[in-house]
Amino acid sequence: LSEWVALTKVVATNQLLRYEVGPTGYTNRFEARFAQQFGVDHVLAVNSGTNGLIAALAAAQIGPGDEVLVPAYTWMSTAVAPMSVGAVPVLVDIDETLTMDPDDILRKITPQTKAIMPVHMLNLVCDMDRIVAIAREKGLRIIEDASQAIGVRYRGRPAGTIGDLGVFSFNHHKSLSSGEGGAVITNDSLAFERVRMFSDVAVFAREAKTAFQTPVFASFNFRVSELTGALMYTQLRKLEAWIARLQWARHIFVDELQDIPGVRITPHNDPENAVGLCLTFDNADDAQRFAGHGSAIRLIDSGVHVFTNWLPVNTKTAFHEKMNAYNWSVRGLQGEPMTSDRTLDILSRSCRIIVDTRGSASRVRKRARDLRYAITG
Ligand SMILES: Cc1ncc(COP(=O)(O)O)c(C=O)c1O
Repeated sequence: LSEWVALTKVVATNQLLRYEVGPTGYTNRFEARFAQQFGVDHVLAVNSGTNGLIAALAAAQIGPGDEVLVPAYTWMSTAVAPMSVGAVPVLVDIDETLTMDPDDILRKITPQTKAIMPVHMLNLVCDMDRIVAIAREKGLRIIEDASQAIGVRYRGRPAGTIGDLGVFSFNHHKSLSSGEGGAVITNDSLAFERVRMFSDVAVFAREAKTAFQTPVFASFNFRVSELTGALMYTQLRKLEAWIARLQWARHIFVDELQDIPGVRITPHNDPENAVGLCLTFDNADDAQRFAGHGSAIRLIDSGVHVFTNWLPVNTKTAFHEKMNAYNWSVRGLQGEPMTSDRTLDILSRSCRIIVDTRGSASRVRKRARDLRYAITG
């Protein structure tokens, strides 16, 4: 309902451009509230998570010749974004937490590596303590993709606020949704100038040139309208309650689904704050048999989230051959196949449980019990 009221207000006042409404507009209020709620200095609303990732990489000065570490299990945008700024994505295995394996990060670092993109998949958080330690030691930037973990915490801090820049998607499937949309956050003022410049082709015309320390560069348009801002703002107000509800229901599911021979709750990098719920089976056949029951989905069958299905990445193609990031690959990665057997093995044994939070505790428990019977027979 509040979304409907907010949208009506925008339409009724016919102020669809955020720059015309100023600080009282929904987009500005969304950014201010997000900054406060997530404890960060700078937030920019953008028109998609994909574009947010591209802007964040550009802001971190990632470009041609650079290598960027991405997990082999993520929505394809995380791997395409480096290619969009001229850099090459390098696959990192996941471990049983379904997120980047820090040991494999260490194995994949080369002199060309400039950044790590940890992705908090399915509301599960990465091992950020280790990833931050590696990035510090090796002098790498972290662009954190928290598109699938909006409002989830890792050891007390919101996912997305731990790296140098954090990116969120607010597309239709996300915990905070404006249909399409996203945000980039950072505490680095100079990087934020670059995010803004990259996301608004005429930012220099809107503000005095002296407002920027960064020389103006040619860029793109990733701006959002006030209609999108209105949805973002109203959805943000509901986020904490939604995450709390998910956590509450997860407890009930975990209670019912533990101690089953041959299957375990997927290990979590911060069990106390856990929101996402997956199951890891000992073998792929059991996982396949279970998938299809209730809300379970076997992760290997989740399409474009698995690196083998990233067609433009695997074929290493660009819209114009001279703009192909692989032309600048110092190690000549053009012909190098992208493989990660370990990721495929883990995904073939893992199932995602969509925790249905509707109804009373006993109804939630009944659904969890039905799932248990689906496994134990
Ligand atoms: C992990 C991850 N990164 C990036 C994106 C891209 O977001 P968008 O669809 O808003 O471009 C998504 C969207 O599904 C995602 O799940």
